Amino acid sequence: MQFSKRIERMETSIFSHMNTLKNQVEAKKGIKVINLGIGSPDRPPLNAIRQAISESVMGDDEYRYPLTDGTESLRIAIANWYLDRFNVRLDHEKEVLVLMGSQDGLAHVCQAILDPGDIALIPDPGYPVYTAGVILADAIKYPLALTQENNFFPKYEDIPEEICKMAKMMFLNYPGNPIPAPGTLEFFKETVRFADENSIIVCHDNAYSELAYDGFLPPSFLQVEGAKDVGVEFHSFSKTFNMAGCRIGFVVGNSKVITALTNVKANIDYGVFLPIQHAAEVALKNYKEWVANNCVLYQRRRDILISGLKSLGWNVDKPKASMFLWAQLPQGHSSSQHFAEQLLEEAGVLLIPGTAFGKHGEGYVRIALVQEEDLLLEAVHRIKSFLK
Ligand SMILES: Cc1ncc(COP(=O)(O)O)c(C=O)c1O
Repeated sequence: MQFSKRIERMETSIFSHMNTLKNQVEAKKGIKVINLGIGSPDRPPLNAIRQAISESVMGDDEYRYPLTDGTESLRIAIANWYLDRFNVRLDHEKEVLVLMGSQDGLAHVCQAILDPGDIALIPDPGYPVYTAGVILADAIKYPLALTQENNFFPKYEDIPEEICKMAKMMFLNYPGNPIPAPGTLEFFKETVRFADENSIIVCHDNAYSELAYDGFLPPSFLQVEGAKDVGVEFHSFSKTFNMAGCRIGFVVGNSKVITALTNVKANIDYGVFLPIQHAAEVALKNYKEWVANNCVLYQRRRDILISGLKSLGWNVDKPKASMFLWAQLPQGHSSSQHFAEQLLEEAGVLLIPGTAFGKHGEGYVRIALVQEEDLLLEAVHRIKSFLK
């Protein structure tokens, strides 16, 4: 059998390597690893959401092929939510598209924009689907280094002029995964200017806009004047409403990008299962109460873990948003992969090496706040014996 070159270009996943190692450790040592590696919410969605799914799965009309763009009532609910949450007005006919999880859109938008050999600017460290989408489009990624010195924003002035001219699209992700750094309107303004000057389509991934702490409200890229002329913004129900397994998200913004992406998707698939779309509407209508409670839960976990690690002399920055800590390795450690493997093997705690997200992730690990408080305290206890 022969397979495509693009499959060969896909990087082997550090996530699956860590998972295999986890299974080996559990089998060999007979212990349960504390998994702070996965980015999947550990709690179920609201009862109202589950109720909506269970009621609508009994309907006779729910089993036809759903249209690619999503039901009109969900698109209207999304547009209303955008207006309420960000004060951004959207045309639900042309500027909103429902997705099978935001990842569906993030990967397929590359097919809509890029031809073989084209350049896409990708955050490094960044969420892996950006790179996968670019590879599947036979295009080339140009990494945008995100470093602490620059508050994890890319330095547009450092990108060579010929790359700026050749690049057709860019991905951004604030607050992000793995780096929970918040976006600012000032940075988004600079991005619109840069994108406009160089005819680059901006794809902003706002999957964590509703997981924020200490009163911080993450902005939308589309709040900035001119943003809709240069790009789109992706959202997920996975983290906001604990609906990761339902596979539903959406993209909003520039109508030409939305049309092109709809075209790609309509040629290869249909829309999201209708009961899930109904449940997503219920979720958006309940968002204020639900999101506030969810943020309290993650904020408590964040504080417990950070103060526990601090008591061990491991000082980790307190993120204002997202469900991750982006932690510089403790003193005396320099390789992310080696540190994460040793910690897993010796202490039974699974973290993800920063290099899983790009070469600028070296020196960091990503810690997901996806366990209950007692297990986070147990993880601190295990890390303590490892660091001694
Ligand atoms: C930054 C980021 N974008 C997108 C996604 C994908 O979300 P979805 O489940 O909506 O495909 C994730 C999931 O972990 C993520 O962390």
